Amino acid sequence: MIIGVLREARPGETRVAATPTTAVALIKLGYAVVVEPGAGASSGFSDDAYVTAGAELGDPLVADIVFGVNAPSPQQLDGLREHATLVSLLSPAFSPELVADLARRPITALAMDAVPRISRAQSLDVLSSMANIAGYRAVVEAAHVFGRFFTGQVTAAGKVPPAKVLVVGAGVAGLAAIGTAGSLGAIVYATDPRPEVADQVKSLGGEYLPVAAADVEVSATGYAKEMSDDYNARAAALYAARIPEMDIVITTALIPGRPAPSLLSAEMVASMQRGSVIVDMAASNGGNVAGTVAGEAVVTENGVTIIGYTDLAGRLPAQSSQLYGTNLVNLMKLMTPGKDGMLVLDFDDVVQRGITVVRDGELTWPPPAVQVSASPATSVTARVVLATKEPMSQGRKFAFVGVGALVLFLLGAASPPSLLGHLTVFALAIVIGYYVIGKVHHALHTPLMSVTNAISGIIVVGALLQVGHGDTVVTVISTIAILLASINVFGGFAVTRRMLAMFSRS
Ligand code: NAI
Repeated sequence: MIIGVLREARPGETRVAATPTTAVALIKLGYAVVVEPGAGASSGFSDDAYVTAGAELGDPLVADIVFGVNAPSPQQLDGLREHATLVSLLSPAFSPELVADLARRPITALAMDAVPRISRAQSLDVLSSMANIAGYRAVVEAAHVFGRFFTGQVTAAGKVPPAKVLVVGAGVAGLAAIGTAGSLGAIVYATDPRPEVADQVKSLGGEYLPVAAADVEVSATGYAKEMSDDYNARAAALYAARIPEMDIVITTALIPGRPAPSLLSAEMVASMQRGSVIVDMAASNGGNVAGTVAGEAVVTENGVTIIGYTDLAGRLPAQSSQLYGTNLVNLMKLMTPGKDGMLVLDFDDVVQRGITVVRDGELTWPPPAVQVSASPATSVTARVVLATKEPMSQGRKFAFVGVGALVLFLLGAASPPSLLGHLTVFALAIVIGYYVIGKVHHALHTPLMSVTNAISGIIVVGALLQVGHGDTVVTVISTIAILLASINVFGGFAVTRRMLAMFSRS
């Protein structure tokens, strides 16, 4: 079969649905690839590069499968041949007229933005690929307008405080923004109704700001639901209290299939310092911030810039085309079981069923609901406890330490003198361990725990001392202990090595 790659018709679109690299992967799957001349020009891929990769230049509408980034223009749709398969972003939930138009044609239409958020479909998840890039770019846009350092500096000419960044909504785009702002040196805060993201925020160096409401989000779907009035009121109080101190606010709050929740009022925007920047990533969906204009950057009366760009991913066109193209290659791998260049649409597969809007002229949208689980469901009680958990007060900390010290003192008084030394070492180990582990970056906790497996070395030494004692039972137990503890020691180092390799720059 032939895959045709469209030159995007939408004004301002910089991305393309296949790059020379992804064209090679498609050809390896047995397809012939025809690229419309100039299709990759805006993303930096020349026609020659496609030809070198093995593709042909020509009319993509003659192909059996047509790749696009956006929904094709009416002219492009009219040019599709019978039984062609169209693969592009279609926003079927928001475009009933387009869906009706597609269903009038003898074609199959697959919407890449309808991939269900399940682990197996991650490699096809275009929305996540694009949101990741957009989250990064949102910080770059904010930094450009902000006109000050993100990182704090102490120089001979004076001190520069670090910028404070608040990210509202810690999904894919939000987490990318947190990581980017943190790596530029800013102090980053983030909030989200799903308390399970607290650890992810922390691991990226941010501080999670919980909203102490009873209806924090149950995230069995990987997406949020509409929040209650109580939650919204408490969240608004949190924003009102924290926003005046923020230099940058990036909002990404999204509830699928709904207009974006309105979170930041005009008063909150007015409470920010002159020169502060807001990036409203939800601009195309109505916006999270009062005063956002989709596609534009506006400056408020008090000098706050609100950026509402809707093409953030397209502002890194080569990268976003590469990731989008790779998502399409992964879809083709799924749909080409024989690796023979023949597309097979399997309706028993929830992913393929989920993205099919029209099959051979038959309307198949909306698909049946898919039970997705992007993250483990926690019990409601656990979630509420997490959301309302306050940091331990100073008084309670002292009480804990006091009780611990008293228990140790009583134990010491009641123990034989030979045990006193051990108890002292034990108490010191607790204190040192607490401070050492507390200072290790969250992301390095797993390798740290693996290294501490080496404590099993003590078991090995003890068992070696016992193994030659002559008693068969003791020998057998010691041998088993040596074996198990050795697995722990060497396994720990192997895991550590693998994890540290992930952090190495080479
Ligand atoms: P996502 O679903 O992964 O994340 C959205 C997050 O918002 C979730 O973590 C959710 O819990 C949170 N949320 C929902 N209601 C909230 C509330 N009331 N308060 C605070 N947080 C709330 O979505 P993703 O993929 O990260 O996209 C985020 C936004 O970025 C979307 O609006 C998307 O359309 C937009 N986007 C914009 C681009 C642009 O160029 N401007 C490009 C790509 C995505």
